[in-house]
Amino acid sequence: MRILRSHLISGLHGRVKVPGDKSIAHRGIMLAAISRGKSRLDHFPFSLDCLTTIRAFSQLGVSSVVSSNKQVVTINGVGLDGLKQPSGPLNMGNSGTTTRLISGLLAGQTFSSSLIGDQSLSKRPMLRVSQPLNLMGGKINSLDGHLPIKINGQKLHAIDYQLPIASAQVKSALILAALYGSSTSTFVEKLPTRNHTEKMLAAFGAQINTAKDNLTITVSPRPHLHGQQFIIPGDFSSAAFFIVAATLVPNSTISLKDVGINSTRTGLLTVLKKMGGRFSLTGQTRTVEPRANLQVHSANLSPIKIGKTQIPGLIDELPLVALLMSRADGLSKITGAEELRLKEVDRIKVIVSEFKKLGIAISELADGFLIDGRQPWQIKNRHLDSHGDHRIAMTLAVAALLADCSQPITLEQADSVQISYPDFFQDLDQLSMNK
Ligand code: S3P
Repeated sequence: MRILRSHLISGLHGRVKVPGDKSIAHRGIMLAAISRGKSRLDHFPFSLDCLTTIRAFSQLGVSSVVSSNKQVVTINGVGLDGLKQPSGPLNMGNSGTTTRLISGLLAGQTFSSSLIGDQSLSKRPMLRVSQPLNLMGGKINSLDGHLPIKINGQKLHAIDYQLPIASAQVKSALILAALYGSSTSTFVEKLPTRNHTEKMLAAFGAQINTAKDNLTITVSPRPHLHGQQFIIPGDFSSAAFFIVAATLVPNSTISLKDVGINSTRTGLLTVLKKMGGRFSLTGQTRTVEPRANLQVHSANLSPIKIGKTQIPGLIDELPLVALLMSRADGLSKITGAEELRLKEVDRIKVIVSEFKKLGIAISELADGFLIDGRQPWQIKNRHLDSHGDHRIAMTLAVAALLADCSQPITLEQADSVQISYPDFFQDLDQLSMNK
């Protein structure tokens, strides 16, 4: 249990450098592992999820040197055919991204392996990856579509596949499997999702092409991948907590240094701009993954409606978008976000129950929320609970900053921030203490 800082009226001030992007870090380890030669990843986030990926690849015979104080990982790549059969099950912990992506990679190996995970991960759907991988000739079995799963490595064939759900994890699993296919595979998305796998694979030397529609991806098999050096940009999804906090806490001005601004990730900025948010980007650089510094000021917000086509670009920021809506001057709505029910927890249900404790006028829809920001918050229960979900924990810590309550607001399972942002509370405190 943690006591949260609340009713912050003097504003947030100062500068933060958020940890490296979690999605990019997972992919960096995986692609470095199947490349030839050494790779180096700078500004690597040493969060629990990313350590899960490093540990899994070490079990698969890939050695890496970790310097956590310097935030650097050096990986000794073993090449496309160099992974070794692990001696026991690979423990995926809480990490959905590791599980889905590694399934694609393991489907085409010459050995079998099995994946296990924690309680939350063991409830999350895996058929979305095992079914299309099995269509490629894979042999992935689970009792009921959940972990644990057993992967019997097979010779894979190419496939032309239309993805039924907008999921970068599923797309990436298929792209990784296609590297082991017999000929060129094509994947078609209904809506564009984050494209880190495509960009990074190309940088490692793969022949992968995204058509002008941003939806059709072709992957050639058996590329010659070579070790690379990447400086991982700050995680936009971590920066998002401070972007929203500085927008909502009156009298705030903050800067965020070197944040990833890949356009498949920054839907929150588009929404915030439409709502009347005040922020600017400077020092933009066009590396494989584009990055910039952000400056954010507090602002008064208008309500907004968000639908299906916008969801993939801000899927992980939806709890924060709901918080923005709860302070906007009118009625806002999110629809088409049913995927939120399949995250670390059912984020629709948990946001509604925790926001209601703060007196926020929010109601649950099957695929989103309805939120009236005009109603002043009236705290009904000051004991909040993250339900073990890192993004819920951090959203509630930002929400507490706005709550006017004479007694302390507490948060159960605050430690879940370790999953993606171990120093989150220290960084938030630092911004709260500057004037
Ligand atoms: C991720 C994709 C998204 C996102 C997750 C990370 C990735 O999941 O929610 O936090 O790194 O590919 P889905 O692909 O299931 O939408």
